Amino acid sequence: MTDMVTYELEDGIAVITVANPPVNALGHAVRKGLWDAIDRFNAEPEAKAALILGAGKIFLGGADISEFGKPPKDPWLPEVCNHIEAATKPVVCAIQGAALGGGLEVALGCHYRVALKGAKLGLPEVNLGIIPGAGGTQRTPRVIGVKAALEIIPAGGTVSAERAVEMGLADRLATGDPRAAGLAFAQELVAEGAAPRPVGQMPCPDHDAEALAEARALWSKKNRGEVARLASIDAVEAATRLEIMPGLEEERRIFSEMMDTPQRAGLIHAFFIERKTAKIPEIAGVDPRPVARIGVIGGGTMGAGIATAALTRGLDVTLIERDDASADKARATIAKNLDGAVKRGKLGAAQKDAILSDTFRTATGYDALSDSDLAIEAVFEDMDVKKAVFAELDRVMKPGAILATNTSYLDVNEIAASTSRPADVIGLHFFSPAHVMKLLEVVVADKTANDVTATAFALAKTLGKTAVRAGVCDGFIGNRILAKYRAAADRMVLQGASPYQVDRAIKAFGWPMGPYEMGDLAGLDIGYMTRKRKAATRDPRDIVPSWADALYDLGRLGQKTGRGYYIYEEGTRGGKEDPEVEELVAKARAEAGIDPRDFTDDEIQRRYMAALVNEAADVVEEGIAHRPLDVDVTFLYGYGFPRFRGGPMHWADHVGLAGLLSDIEDYAQEDDFFWQPSALLKRLVQDNATFASLNDKG
Ligand code: 3HC
Ligand code: NAI
Repeated sequence: MTDMVTYELEDGIAVITVANPPVNALGHAVRKGLWDAIDRFNAEPEAKAALILGAGKIFLGGADISEFGKPPKDPWLPEVCNHIEAATKPVVCAIQGAALGGGLEVALGCHYRVALKGAKLGLPEVNLGIIPGAGGTQRTPRVIGVKAALEIIPAGGTVSAERAVEMGLADRLATGDPRAAGLAFAQELVAEGAAPRPVGQMPCPDHDAEALAEARALWSKKNRGEVARLASIDAVEAATRLEIMPGLEEERRIFSEMMDTPQRAGLIHAFFIERKTAKIPEIAGVDPRPVARIGVIGGGTMGAGIATAALTRGLDVTLIERDDASADKARATIAKNLDGAVKRGKLGAAQKDAILSDTFRTATGYDALSDSDLAIEAVFEDMDVKKAVFAELDRVMKPGAILATNTSYLDVNEIAASTSRPADVIGLHFFSPAHVMKLLEVVVADKTANDVTATAFALAKTLGKTAVRAGVCDGFIGNRILAKYRAAADRMVLQGASPYQVDRAIKAFGWPMGPYEMGDLAGLDIGYMTRKRKAATRDPRDIVPSWADALYDLGRLGQKTGRGYYIYEEGTRGGKEDPEVEELVAKARAEAGIDPRDFTDDEIQRRYMAALVNEAADVVEEGIAHRPLDVDVTFLYGYGFPRFRGGPMHWADHVGLAGLLSDIEDYAQEDDFFWQPSALLKRLVQDNATFASLNDKG
């Protein structure tokens, strides 16, 4: 045994406990400990059955992901699972909290499984760019059939303990203490004289061609571009034609192939970095202020979404609007959002009614916020309007309350300075729709107190969001960088690419949408307002896309008006390309005296990404983003950047910074105003270093 696995005999049952906090990951010491424990169990005649347990809240959280990419050490997890399965007497496990990935595979190596209420069982490997590699694809379909296995494995999802029992993945449901539940089950099996029941000896599942075809069709469309999900279906199919040992070999072959993909590296990078954004020095050890009651000012697109997010997470919300009609409209939107949550099973119907009658209220006067712990302003994007709101908040809110703004671009320092308590002011930049999107940019102004920042991170956790620290600048991390690559797209269109080609190339890279489709979705008035706002300070060398202003003047604001870059016909999905837009673009080229040239999709992707990464490097250099990983998380959660590429900075490291810099220097030959290589990028190339080397900064 090892320190992480203990063995004790209790009333004829060998109790084998894994204790490797925080999630009992199956690292080398655990695998070795389990192996030895099974050996001892087999050899000990007094032990009639064995019970495998995980100490703490979680049964087993899976293979130790931090070992991936390092030389493997014996025994491997598949061998451990086989060894458990080959035990000469019954082996039971009791699952509390979670049995994930290798954790569920160990459970499937056991002969009998009891699941505790509240536990989640699943094979999330595909989310990390691999497939289950310790028998999951071979044993799961043997236990629950191909169709049910395909609902779990390519989705990388989990099922509840109840559902696991229904499907036959676990034998029984229990409540209370896993040790007691497991011991009771083991004693029953001993009393019955039950034999080991190895899953590997069960017959191959039926070859369900229909379910396999359906799964392939579904996962070719969903999570487009990801290879592991489709590969996991191949592995499940192998279980239908191969006995267990060759089936496990085939699984291992596919697993090893996936292990070597850049997608695996990208997805595992994403897994670790999303857990790091809250690790920033200024809030280490700082207690957040308590937040139970919040105020939301403005109940439009964002305010209603923010209020919904807060209400579904148990906070008390008072929403302030300009007049009763606007307040009623906001209430109706929130009620509709909550109905959606009920439909998706995220909220009970009674809970929804209780929220609308007890924890949510609207008002038109600010005094209603006198007992709120925090207020989030989401009124029009106009500094004067915002300052007027903050003056009211400053007047009514209790000492120690936090005053937050959801501004997309405006200067949070200026807003803070307009109050008598700048230390209590912070930016909380949600993304639309705010009750759905996971990102929250926490915009820390010069005078923001550390416990206010800590409270923002704690609030994000309550709301189920991932918070990223950002500094103050025009657009913070995400929108500032977006403005740059969006402008790179416009430049390519001016030089000869069609907006439709740009959208197609960008989607082929893995983004969910191209910049022009995105503009249509958000509303082309937003870009128009931004151009107006920046007009006074714009450098004359900057290029303004005149076709975009022309579209605005024509009232073509995107999806909401049925026309933008695309034409949206009722009853059809997506938009249709429009020759009129091409004409407007051609006119702009002629006015600028540009002779259009062809672009390949590859060049479009390369320029778009180079603009993104170069600006992102400046954002890191200026301290607007604390580390490159904060940019990655911002783009994964706020902008739909393809997760399998890990984030833009991880992607840049993968393709090579020297090549990117050299491209940027080439582009600068034609336009040295727009393409100015970032000092950080230059320094990293000089030092032969990567963005990842800056991620360890605490
Ligand atoms: N390996 C290594 N470290 C892990 C880990 C794993 N499998 N799972 C979690 N951790 C680490 C996290 O990085 C985090 O570290 P930190 O404190 O230094 O940031 C710490 O454990 C706690 O994790 P969470 O903050 O996520 O804890 P939660 O309690 O919120 O969630 C969990 C627990 C549901 C188990 C969640 O951690 C999780 O989903 N883990 C990944 C599960 C997974 O993907 N398992 C499959 C692994 S691949 C595999 O098994 C291959 C096999 O088929 C061969
Ligand atoms: P919106 O126009 O949909 O809603 C603004 C709401 O504020 C309206 O309902 C209006 O009646 C109300 N309002 C205006 N002045 C008020 C006042 N003095 N007191 C109380 N209520 C008042 O605007 P939207 O899109 O919700 O944006 C709000 C803020 O959020 C802006 O600062 C915007 O930049 C920011 N934001 C917007 C995003 C988006 O995608 N729409 C994303 C992230 C931030």
